[in-house]
Amino acid sequence: MNDSQSAVIPSLTLNNGREIPVVGFGCAFGDWTGKDEMQGFRPEESWRPMTLALEAGYRHFDTAFCYGTERHLGDIVGRALAEGKLTRDELFVTTKLAHPPTPPHVAISHRLTWDWRKVDDLAARVADDFDRSKEMLGMGHVDLLLMHWPGTFENQDAGFAKEARLAIWETFESFVERGDAHSIGVCNFTQSHLDDLIEAGRRVPAVNQTEYHPYCQDPELLEFCRSHSIIVEAYAPFASGAFGLLKDPVISEISEQLGRSTGQVILKWHLQQGRVVLPKSGNAKRIAQNLELFDFEIDEEQLARIDGVKPSEAQRSAADPTTVL
Ligand SMILES: NC(=O)c1ccc[n+]([C@@H]2O[C@H](COP(=O)([O-])OP(=O)(O)OC[C@H]3O[C@@H](n4cnc5c(N)ncnc54)[C@H](OP(=O)(O)O)[C@@H]3O)[C@@H](O)[C@H]2O)c1
Repeated sequence: MNDSQSAVIPSLTLNNGREIPVVGFGCAFGDWTGKDEMQGFRPEESWRPMTLALEAGYRHFDTAFCYGTERHLGDIVGRALAEGKLTRDELFVTTKLAHPPTPPHVAISHRLTWDWRKVDDLAARVADDFDRSKEMLGMGHVDLLLMHWPGTFENQDAGFAKEARLAIWETFESFVERGDAHSIGVCNFTQSHLDDLIEAGRRVPAVNQTEYHPYCQDPELLEFCRSHSIIVEAYAPFASGAFGLLKDPVISEISEQLGRSTGQVILKWHLQQGRVVLPKSGNAKRIAQNLELFDFEIDEEQLARIDGVKPSEAQRSAADPTTVL
């Protein structure tokens, strides 16, 4: 394990003054890119990649209750903690709660997702899941806790959706007060979902984690988040490997000019525009490569050319959050 490597990964400052490393390792394993072939999550695939990521110098890990990888991450990190190779304060661990069902889920995910409308006491359910998350991770507090989605997909009741979000957020705020979560944020929130929390006078989320890559850009959402000091985390920074993004001709040309892989160019485009990135890879070479981002720059003209590959309609590897009330 190379501690000096972790030291060179820069951080951004969250709106509560805490630091977040700009590159985190994506800990969701499985296949969710084929819209009709959702296979659910496959945590059993995570053992080797997450071990390699820790060895390569990642100290920021992005998992979730529904990924089923909290236990695996807890074991891998726990071993390093036990062997004295790592201390808890070197790590930045994110988990997420309150993922609605996205059928057809096979594997384990159906037990780890739930329909917000069918839960009598949302606060109690979230608190129970968080207890289980912390138990699986075995690291005491989590550094960042995220509401995984703004609501349940089929819900047609806007009033319910807004109240449910507020109830979950209030519970998250209580976790911060008792020190179990150092920071709290949201995922897949549109400007309107964010407005609901902000207008209710609640704690402003530290982070909005959302699908973002050259084929799925939303400059208005970026600007809204910037104006409220909300850090945007780009999930699926490579579009989960779909749509031919990693072979895009414009990005390929820039990658040749810079002598870097298209993956590195995409990650650097995100970083230079102020987003945290959460790349996932199962390949040792690419796991390491996705951290080698701090000895080159993309110039303004090249950045603008990458902006320009934006299609007229966003291509998403995950569900469209604008469909959630
Ligand atoms: N909040 C949410 O709702 C949400 C939703 C989706 C994802 N996420 C988070 O975001 C993380 C990343 O998203 P993701 O897992 O969907 O996909 P991703 O990181 O966008 O893409 C992963 C794919 O890119 C390939 N890849 C990785 N590095 C590469 C490189 N340098 N060059 C070429 N190909 C490369 C991988 O192949 P190899 O394995 O062969 O390298 C894999 O096929 C997740 O693990 C999760 O933590 C959050």
